[in-house]
Amino acid sequence: MTFVQPQVHLSLIDEDRFGIRIARAINVRADQLDAIDSFCITNQVRMLIARCFVDELSTAQDMESRGYSLMDTLIYFKRKLAAAAIPDFSSAVLIRPVEQEEAEIVATLAVDMFRGYKGHYHADRRLNPADCDHVYSSWAYRSIQLRQVADVVLVAEHEGQVAGFIALRMNSKSEGEGTLYGVSPAVQGHGIGRNLIIGALRWLESTGADHMIISTQITNVPSQKVWVRLGFEPMHAHYTFHKWYDESA
Ligand SMILES: CC(C)(COP(=O)(O)OP(=O)(O)OC[C@H]1O[C@@H](n2cnc3c(N)ncnc32)[C@H](O)[C@@H]1OP(=O)(O)O)[C@@H](O)C(=O)NCCC(=O)NCCS
Repeated sequence: MTFVQPQVHLSLIDEDRFGIRIARAINVRADQLDAIDSFCITNQVRMLIARCFVDELSTAQDMESRGYSLMDTLIYFKRKLAAAAIPDFSSAVLIRPVEQEEAEIVATLAVDMFRGYKGHYHADRRLNPADCDHVYSSWAYRSIQLRQVADVVLVAEHEGQVAGFIALRMNSKSEGEGTLYGVSPAVQGHGIGRNLIIGALRWLESTGADHMIISTQITNVPSQKVWVRLGFEPMHAHYTFHKWYDESA
C-alpha cells in the first residue's frame, strides 16, 4: 500500500472555542497514525479531532488501541436535484434569505436548538458543555457574516417570527452542502425542517447545481426522516474520534 500524507492541520477556530491547542485530521488511515502523532506532538496539540470512514474498521480499532475515543458517527446523504420534482412549500412557513442584521437573532435561536446536542463536542466529557453549545451559535453567526463559511443562509418564518435556519455552502459548481440547520425547540415537529430543506433544494436548483449533500449524527433520526422523505439517499459515514495527548503521552 502506498503511504498517503495524512490530512491533519491545526484548527484555530476550535482553539478559539475551547482555549486549548486543537488539531483536526480527516480520512485517517492506519498507516498515517504515526505521522499524525508526530504532527500533534511537534505542534503541542492537546486534543485531536480525527475522522475515518466507517468501512475502515481496522483503522478504527488501531485508533482505539492508541488512545482515541469514539465521539460520534456522522452519516452523509445526497440528493440529485433532477432526480425528482422538488415538493412545494407548505403555506404555514415562509422560507427566505436571512437579512445581515438578523445574525444575532439566529445565533440566539441556535443556542436553544443545539443545547446539549448529541455531536462529538458534547460527547467529550472533558469539554465544557456551555462551550460546546456556543460552537453552534457562533457557527450560525459566522455563516451569516462570512461568505467563506456559507454562500447563503435561509431562514424559516413561522407566525411572523424567525423559527429556523439552514446554511448552505457551495463545495463546487455542482455540489451544495447543508452545513448547519435547526428549528426552534418550541416549534419542532411542525414541518419547518422539511420546508427549510425544500428551500435549500430550490436555492441550489436556481444556481444550476447538480446535487445537495448534508450530514448528521447517525442518532439524529428527526433529521434523517426529513431528508429521506425528500428523496435524499445515504452516501457514506465517518467515525469521529478525539485523542487527548495529555492523557496518552
Ligand atoms: C432536525 C430538525 C431540524 C427537524 O426540524 P423539524 O421542523 O422538527 O422537522 P419536521 O417537523 O419536518 O419533522 C421531522 C420528523 O422528526 C420528528 N421530530 C422533530 N423534532 C423531534 C424531536 N425533538 N423529538 C422527536 N422527534 C422529532 C417529527 O415529528 C417528524 O417525524 P414524524 O413526522 O414521524 O412525526 C429539528 O428537530 C432540530 O432543529 N433539531 C435540533 C438541531 C438539529 O438536530 N439540527 C440538525 C443537525 S443536522
